[in-house]
Amino acid sequence: MTEPVTAAIRANYAAVATAYAGKWADVLAVHARAVADRLDLGEARRVAELGCGPGRLLPHLEQLAPRARVIGADLTEAMLRQAPARFARVVGDAQALPFAGASLDAVVMPFVLFHLPDLPAALSEVRRVVAPGGSFAAVTWSGHDPHPAYDVWVRVIDEYGGPPDPSPQMPSNAVTSDPVELEAALRAANFGQVEITVERFHHHPTAEEFLAHSQVIGAMARRIALLAADLRAECLADAERQLAELPPEAFIESGTVLYTTAR
Ligand SMILES: C[S@@+](CC[C@H](N)C(=O)[O-])C[C@H]1O[C@@H](n2cnc3c(N)ncnc32)[C@H](O)[C@@H]1O
Repeated sequence: MTEPVTAAIRANYAAVATAYAGKWADVLAVHARAVADRLDLGEARRVAELGCGPGRLLPHLEQLAPRARVIGADLTEAMLRQAPARFARVVGDAQALPFAGASLDAVVMPFVLFHLPDLPAALSEVRRVVAPGGSFAAVTWSGHDPHPAYDVWVRVIDEYGGPPDPSPQMPSNAVTSDPVELEAALRAANFGQVEITVERFHHHPTAEEFLAHSQVIGAMARRIALLAADLRAECLADAERQLAELPPEAFIESGTVLYTTAR
């Protein structure tokens, strides 16, 4: 029964598609490009990014795979619409892919695996559509360093009685954030040559950027949206006041991400 969960993820992304395609997509794209660079795509003929969102990686894939048709696929049509129209764009669920068996030379999934309620189904789907000798790459969140600005935001929303994040929590996060578990999941789906490295993530927004982003995207945005309008305005003003007292380094979001490649 993954459909209700998948539908909730789709609704979340549909609501933020335009905002996501702004600065946040560029922040993540650094890592998407770095993991794609680990693949040898020179001779590839069909390459897909699954969960491509606004498609920031697609032009880079085009450069890495000059002989290939580059396809962007995503569960959320509103996200796909943000992707450059010159690429083939396909609406589809990674857990039941709309591609024929062995029809792709490479699949890249940056910042997607932790959204999948049925990770084993998605990994076997990817294995099914990748041709023998083809390759796979992914980026997933791993550890998070302390983030004082985020803590303030959580505390203020709690104080105003913000309900819990209504978005479903994904048990597969425990797998996708852990190199040992993730490697085991890939091997169980018959991937070989699995290589996973732990890399640093570092993003330093200004206070204004942080506030603008976290009002629109993510768990805190979903929570604050559930407050009554007058309370929401007070909560925001309070958060803004408290965040203004923090030093610039309190806004740094850092931690680790996993770069995964497999064949
Ligand atoms: C964090 S965004 C990453 C987008 C892009 N890969 C990037 O790095 O900017 C996650 C994307 O995965 C998509 N997604 C979530 N669940 C999916 C699924 N089951 N199948 C395909 N795409 C999915 C979302 O719609 C969203 O566009």
